[in-house]
Amino acid sequence: MPLVTTTEMFKKAYDGGYAIGAFNVNNMEIVQGITEAAKDLNAPLILQVSKGARNYANHTYLMKLVEAAVEETGLPIALHLDHGDTFELCKSCIDGGFTSVMIDASSKSFEDNIALTKQVVEYAHDHGVVVEAELGTLAGVEDEVKVKAEDSSYTRPEDVQEFVERTGCDSLAIAIGTSHGAYKFKPGTKPQLRFDILEDVSARLPGFPIVLHGSSSVPQEFVEKINKFGGNMPGAIGVPEDQLRQAAQMAVCKINIDSDLRLAMTATVREFFYEHPDKFDPREYLKPARAAIKEMVAHKIVDVLGCDGKA
Ligand code: G3H
Ligand code: 13P
Ligand code: ZN
Repeated sequence: MPLVTTTEMFKKAYDGGYAIGAFNVNNMEIVQGITEAAKDLNAPLILQVSKGARNYANHTYLMKLVEAAVEETGLPIALHLDHGDTFELCKSCIDGGFTSVMIDASSKSFEDNIALTKQVVEYAHDHGVVVEAELGTLAGVEDEVKVKAEDSSYTRPEDVQEFVERTGCDSLAIAIGTSHGAYKFKPGTKPQLRFDILEDVSARLPGFPIVLHGSSSVPQEFVEKINKFGGNMPGAIGVPEDQLRQAAQMAVCKINIDSDLRLAMTATVREFFYEHPDKFDPREYLKPARAAIKEMVAHKIVDVLGCDGKA
């Protein structure tokens, strides 16, 4: 099976009350860890590449790694551009074989967001590629995503229908309290997603797939392991998994997870070097790191997304 778009998988996910995991990929071990878990569980999959990942690993290498995963697993896999910020970047990924792109113009004005999203949608649809857009802004600091908490804003449900109609986008990322990175909520506070906004949005867009970014849960066992073996990550708190599970049962069809994979990989590598300070063969520390990613993704597929057996 070749790479697929998200059209069919989102329709099945919407009707079936589950979500597809969109996991960020940057190198071979990450691709392998994610896709091995999905294969074991017969789960559909979205592999996503950020601008930073593309700069790090090169478009062609990532493309070939994902093609290898398609061949190895036989699964329906979509290859998606995460947080595309210009028409040119989206075009380059469309021309280069991606089946889905995100144009993230959420920090622009409503009208400018519509204009840029529409331009990407027209080009993408002419080439058989689907488009994710975003309304509302998430807080968080990552390589290519930098929004201060005070500049973040929830999605306004009254805007979504006009936005989707005028842009023709295929899915919509909304802001209901998630944020990027490992420091999502203030220590001591109780994280609570705004399900009222999600419900209002989906009532205005019946059957339309909604996307959640910033959906890592920051498992404390990994934060503790990182800190035990020389790291310093005080106050790292994520989105509770039961709330993500609830969102997956609603209109949310795509849940983005990157930080949890980074935490699993880094904790495992730190532990390895602590226990084996004499070793220096990359295969020896990347092998358990890959296994940790596989375990994390398997857990997400079964306990959070509910997409096991849905490929
Ligand atoms: O939301 C952003 C993703 O976690 C990708 O992060 O830009 O550091 O590759 P990155
Ligand atoms: P996390 O930082 O919560 O993993 O979010 C990833 C993401 O939204 C990628 O687009
Ligand atoms: Zn994101």
